[in-house]
Amino acid sequence: MDKFLKMTGFATSIISWYNINKRDLPWRQNASPYHVWISEIILQQTQVKQGLDYYNRFISLFPDVVSLANASQQDVLLAWQGLGYYSRARNLHAAAHQIVERYNGVMPDTYAELINLSGIGPYTAAAIASIAFGEPHAVVDGNVFRLLARCFSVELPIDTGEGKRFFTNLANELLDSTNPGDFNQAMMELGALVCTPANPDCAICPLRTMCNSYRLGNPFSFPVKSRKTTKRDRYFYYFVHESDKQLAITRREKGDIWQGLWELLLIESDKRLSENQIVRQLSESLNMAPLAVSHVVEMRHLLTHQNIFASLHKVKMPEKFNLVTFKDKIVVYTGRENLTDYPLPKLIEKLLAQYFDLPPKVL
Ligand code: ADE
Repeated sequence: MDKFLKMTGFATSIISWYNINKRDLPWRQNASPYHVWISEIILQQTQVKQGLDYYNRFISLFPDVVSLANASQQDVLLAWQGLGYYSRARNLHAAAHQIVERYNGVMPDTYAELINLSGIGPYTAAAIASIAFGEPHAVVDGNVFRLLARCFSVELPIDTGEGKRFFTNLANELLDSTNPGDFNQAMMELGALVCTPANPDCAICPLRTMCNSYRLGNPFSFPVKSRKTTKRDRYFYYFVHESDKQLAITRREKGDIWQGLWELLLIESDKRLSENQIVRQLSESLNMAPLAVSHVVEMRHLLTHQNIFASLHKVKMPEKFNLVTFKDKIVVYTGRENLTDYPLPKLIEKLLAQYFDLPPKVL
């Protein structure tokens, strides 16, 4: 297989295409390992269009490993606010500390060392090692799975160990080991711009003449997955309590989404609650009945593995009533103008925007 694939000119075709069609992106102009690292972590769950502003802001706030290591976790999460998958930001921060401690603040230059850093798995280690250091390791992301599955009619499911191993081996066989950085970026770029999930533009694809799906007209049959992702429904009842124009907020804890981010007072349920049940549970958590509870807005927030059905209520309590804790979490009261000091999940930003009747935010 190896020889045949090399003969077909797979790598040459995609690299020539890439040289002409690649997007002009900031981490391509300065392919320092730090820049590649940050861009690849952002792009793991985020499209280039959406990630670009975040990348530029992140780099201007934390221009190198040492400045990232010296920042507080709160500031790193603030820079990430709205991007989602916040463990990425916490891991970047942790890895920056490891690089300072183990390598004197200089990013290591081998796949083997990179993969031992927090948040760096086979994909990110291969991307940094190949793009910044020319080490021959193929990257395998969603774009690469799709492109290879279509081109070679691979029916092995991509969400199994066997499937992952097969695609990784195939990508490594095809890899141009004299130019692995461009090869990897060409694969991802082609997947992002031409061999897209919903609208593959086969007419302009450089792999057209060697692509099985083009020949058979069945690109939508690939890639194959073994199971549908099951989603968990969660019902989040949020409460605004203002005391002296200060808003009650709490910090989310370990072991769940949004760790380290801030939110409003929360009662969670795995079933929808009636207004009566909401008020009853709230009274229990406050250890007293509120003077009034009024419904403000409902919102759905869909994550990869969870559907969150959120609703916001305003709570009126007696004058000077201040919570110390709510559901065992420490409560902080903050003025509206100081909310920007606290990293907030996008859902909370959107709920608060409705509550304060703000225009939609751009970014
Ligand atoms: N998606 C993730 N990383 C990428 C890269 N380096 N080039 C193009 N698309 C990407």
